Amino acid sequence: MGAMRKVHIKSYGCQMNVYDSNRMADTLAPEGYAETASPEDADLVILNTCHIREKAAEKVYSELGRIRQLKDAAAGEGRRVTVAVAGCVAQAEGEEIIRRAPAVDLVVGSQSYHRLPDLLARAHNGPVVETEFPVEDKFETLPLPGREAARKRGPTAFLTIQEGCDKFCAFCVVPYTRGAEVSRAPAEILREAERLAEAGVRELTLLGQNVNAYHGPGPDGRDWSLADLLRALAAIPAIARLRYSTSHPRDMADDLIAAHRDLPELMPQLHLPVQSGSDRILAAMNRKHTAAHYLKLIDRLRAARPDMAFTSDFIVGFPGETEQDFRDTLQLIEDVGYSTAFFFKYSSRPGTPAAGLEDQVPEEVRSERLARLKAVIDRQQAAFLRGAQGQVHDVLMEKPGRHAGQLIGRTPYLQAVNVQAPAAAIGTIVPVLIDGISANSLFGSLTEDCVTPRSFVDETSAGTTPAAMLADAGA
Ligand code: 5AD
Ligand code: SF4
Repeated sequence: MGAMRKVHIKSYGCQMNVYDSNRMADTLAPEGYAETASPEDADLVILNTCHIREKAAEKVYSELGRIRQLKDAAAGEGRRVTVAVAGCVAQAEGEEIIRRAPAVDLVVGSQSYHRLPDLLARAHNGPVVETEFPVEDKFETLPLPGREAARKRGPTAFLTIQEGCDKFCAFCVVPYTRGAEVSRAPAEILREAERLAEAGVRELTLLGQNVNAYHGPGPDGRDWSLADLLRALAAIPAIARLRYSTSHPRDMADDLIAAHRDLPELMPQLHLPVQSGSDRILAAMNRKHTAAHYLKLIDRLRAARPDMAFTSDFIVGFPGETEQDFRDTLQLIEDVGYSTAFFFKYSSRPGTPAAGLEDQVPEEVRSERLARLKAVIDRQQAAFLRGAQGQVHDVLMEKPGRHAGQLIGRTPYLQAVNVQAPAAAIGTIVPVLIDGISANSLFGSLTEDCVTPRSFVDETSAGTTPAAMLADAGA
């Protein structure tokens, strides 16, 4: 191990980047790099970037401007700061980044993170750009998270099981930046999940750009689907909660829907982006499904798990979108009833089929539609939160809250809850009475007559009830 150095990693965009940032930190730990939350005292700054919309990509360049000043100031004190750009902007723009931002020493694509130590050594002698899709599998070479690192990250963890996308929606850069669909082997995923469970993880969110297209050679010789994988992960005793994201409506297989009925560990919340409610626009987007197909899916999932909460992504102002197309989207939102949703103005991305389409929707129209869609989603989100009032939900306590003596946890439906509870409750799942609501989160109290759910009994809190813990904490 070399001298102690500090690395600051900043993630933009999706959850997969958060996961990748952790794996980069795990790769650099044996090289003597400790993570720091501030770029000022870092010897190495990594921006893990997002290319999905123009704004996301432009953010990176303004951040690089700030980092250049940091780098120059450090150089004035005789200290060398290395700057790396990783993620999807790195993959998409490569050399161009160094031309636009000469402070950058290394551009590294998402398939080469296992080579970071080597690439950083090379970058010492001049800028390095590595954006190939290497033949070896990075996951086989990336070190697993250390126990301490995993503990620090808390009781919920992301685990990438699939990367890339073969769907080629007309607006989307992902098939180009992340490449073709590749699934990791089930055995490798189970190993990583077990390591995380040993370090105190209780909830796993399986990640993939198109996660429900997952398939891999199972230990039993069969090709495992996402449902098979979920069943195996649910059998790990410490893993109490499972989620997966992001799904494509075309790949919601029968066995996956059945898993929502059969697996209590699989949380009743699903991010199922539909993008638009107009069949004309869905076809132009190359989504390969209709609004009716999507609504049918929602019905089948609700039949399997009646309390299922849905979220989605929407794009407004896709080229050619008329007022009627947009109203079809609003109608679909009314028909589904979401717990919340993400919505974006269409952003033309170089190299995607939609970028070449005529009939681009004017900016004012896109803004106006975005505001109308937001109003509808805000209303649904508020209604969903109100529905929790007075109910008791199992809450996984995740981390300290903003105020002393408060923890933040999440319900099965992924709603954040602020609870008065001692720090020792972090990592446990406890029934919480929801007794307050704010714009986007809930407030709750530990219930008196607390039965001990299965996942509550673990190495740190065996035999304890929330009431006993409160007593311990002097509350
Ligand atoms: N413009 C606007 N939104 C986009 N998304 C993907 N590409 C674009 C684009 N070019 C949105 C989609 C996707 C989410 C991750 O980002 O809604 O589901
Ligand atoms: Fe992009 Fe469509 Fe693939 Fe999602 S499914 S990553 S929106 S191409």
